[in-house]
Amino acid sequence: MTITRADADQRDAALALIVATQSSPRTACAYLGTEADGVRAELDDLDTPWQETLRVAVEPSGRVVGAVLHDADPEETMRSWIHGPWTVDEQTWSAYAVPLVRAALDQLPPGVEQHELSAAPAHTGMARLAADLGWHATGLSIAYQATTATAHRWPADAPDARVATPAELPAISALHDAAFPGTYATARQLLADEARSTLVLGHDGEVTGYASGEIQADGAGYLDFLAIAPERRGRGLAPGLLAAISRELLARSSQGTVNLVVDEMNAAAVALYEGFGYVRDAELLGYRSWPQPQASGGSFA
Ligand SMILES: CC(C)(COP(=O)(O)OP(=O)(O)OC[C@H]1O[C@@H](n2cnc3c(N)ncnc32)[C@H](O)[C@@H]1OP(=O)(O)O)[C@@H](O)C(=O)NCCC(=O)NCCS
Repeated sequence: MTITRADADQRDAALALIVATQSSPRTACAYLGTEADGVRAELDDLDTPWQETLRVAVEPSGRVVGAVLHDADPEETMRSWIHGPWTVDEQTWSAYAVPLVRAALDQLPPGVEQHELSAAPAHTGMARLAADLGWHATGLSIAYQATTATAHRWPADAPDARVATPAELPAISALHDAAFPGTYATARQLLADEARSTLVLGHDGEVTGYASGEIQADGAGYLDFLAIAPERRGRGLAPGLLAAISRELLARSSQGTVNLVVDEMNAAAVALYEGFGYVRDAELLGYRSWPQPQASGGSFA
């Protein structure tokens, strides 16, 4: 068995393997969806072209029996997200999951030193792999989904919710870094990304909360970040902001859905989302090559 870059035929075989393996939570990687069309669209949307990072495990017969790839941010967060690995069966997993991840890590740009894997708890092979690598499991996170059918239950948008401006970056950064330390995107990256929706709450230059989300390659809305300033929490500000960002994403989503992921221990956020009619869709665990920082409020996975 060799682990190598993929030629065109091996790429097609790897894609078929990835699509087949993504269809079950017992073998799927949580960064990609479960539907064939969505998986391809999400791969094509990665910042690092997947055709370049793809590595395949190939039997002497030429059969592709394993695959892995990565996405990385060598500019700001210096992190990588290992997609997969995927193998044809458990025996191949036991022998090649670790070498596949090492093949993905070997090609990372210099300075990218924090790495992450993610899968449902049902993917027990991923937990074994993380332990073999010496990586740390994060707490359980819950994926929630709202659809257009849910939206009639939501309160009115907060009247002071509006699109964030570059001048508000320092205030948003302060909230973002405190609520989501060590997360996968900086506040500067959120504001610089014109395809995103980033809203703030507040008057006269004061930012009392912010929320940011995007439309994923498969057309689903995804709300990544929402926080109220610590000194303003518990006063009923969150629902108006959540309504505004949820409606915005729903309106832009071709699937008519908004997804989000929340740490199951984040009681305030879980109550907020369930009160809005967001429905539990899946569970997932992250596995990180570095110890998890402490969030001041609670964090998305
Ligand atoms: C989650 C968060 C946005 C809630 O904001 P908030 O201003 O405290 O919430 P509000 O006062 O507007 O309350 C809205 C609803 O949230 C829920 N909630 C808020 N605080 C809660 C708490 N301490 N315990 C349980 N539910 C709580 C309730 O459902 C509440 O509705 P209710 O008052 O009708 O019961 C805020 O705690 C925060 O910014 N946390 C840090 C960042 C974060 O964790 N974001 C979510 C990531 S998934």
